[in-house]
Amino acid sequence: MSNLNGKVAIVTGAASGIGKATAMLLAQRGAAVVVADRHGDAAAEVAAAIEAVGGSAAAVTTDVAHEDQIEAMVATAVDRFGGLDILHNNAAILDPEVVSQDIDVTQIDADVFARVLQVNVGGYLLGAKHAIPHMIARGGGAIINTASSAGVQAEYVRPMYGTSKAAVIGMTRNIATRYGKDGIRCIAVSPGLIMTEAAVAAFPQEIVDGFVRHSLANRAGVPEDVAHLVAFLASDEAAYINGINISIDGGLSVHFPNYADDRDAMGG
Ligand SMILES: NC(=O)c1ccc[n+]([C@@H]2O[C@H](COP(=O)([O-])OP(=O)(O)OC[C@H]3O[C@@H](n4cnc5c(N)ncnc54)[C@H](O)[C@@H]3O)[C@@H](O)[C@H]2O)c1
Repeated sequence: MSNLNGKVAIVTGAASGIGKATAMLLAQRGAAVVVADRHGDAAAEVAAAIEAVGGSAAAVTTDVAHEDQIEAMVATAVDRFGGLDILHNNAAILDPEVVSQDIDVTQIDADVFARVLQVNVGGYLLGAKHAIPHMIARGGGAIINTASSAGVQAEYVRPMYGTSKAAVIGMTRNIATRYGKDGIRCIAVSPGLIMTEAAVAAFPQEIVDGFVRHSLANRAGVPEDVAHLVAFLASDEAAYINGINISIDGGLSVHFPNYADDRDAMGG
């Protein structure tokens, strides 16, 4: 089990879903965690839950669309906990009013696209911008960027989302390449379907069943699946991993698209 004792971490979008599970697990593994989310009250609840079981946490209200708020988030880590070792860039714009406009490239509103890029890509880039100097001051650090299967493979819908997540994977390689020899590791994780509370509410059971049918696992993902990967990648045990994108999708992306049909045809 990866040990994060003595490390300081920031998780963005940490009030719910994957970010919340990661913040809780990093703290359980010994890191002091800055729980950052645009919903400050919900972030405070996560920080309180970490402290209730003996962990160290601080909540900050951070909208990653605003550079001054990202700077303040990083300053909280440094001022409260003495430095920064781990940044999990994870917040993404998943608001129903945006997702409902992200259906077809011929109907994209340029302002909405700019907002998606500002949060999903700019938020990560600016997080890295302000984190890296503090990490280098401590001899290095790990930046884990939550991308998505939708950044590797195309969905039928969500062209803006998919474009933003592909950009995250490219940005990850760039940061690793530029700062690897300074001790910075930057790694993308690309979840498939993860049953967060929002996903449970949003996806009809037929869609979930379709994912599972094409997956090599017998279930959809849960936030803790991603949290465990992030905790490992953030630890010194992952010291030789840099710049790559790791799919965490139950094996959905490794096989021919006719996998489930072949399996059915063979009575599997
Ligand atoms: N759940 C999935 O199936 C899935 C699959 C692939 C990728 N992802 C990615 O995982 C990450 C987390 O998503 P989730 O599924 O846990 O969703 P979620 O809605 O449960 O959590 C997202 C969190 O980000 C916060 N947030 C949104 N915009 C923000 C902003 N501008 N500044 C700060 N915080 C902001 C929200 O308040 C929320 O707490 C996202 O990057 C998402 O694209 C999720």
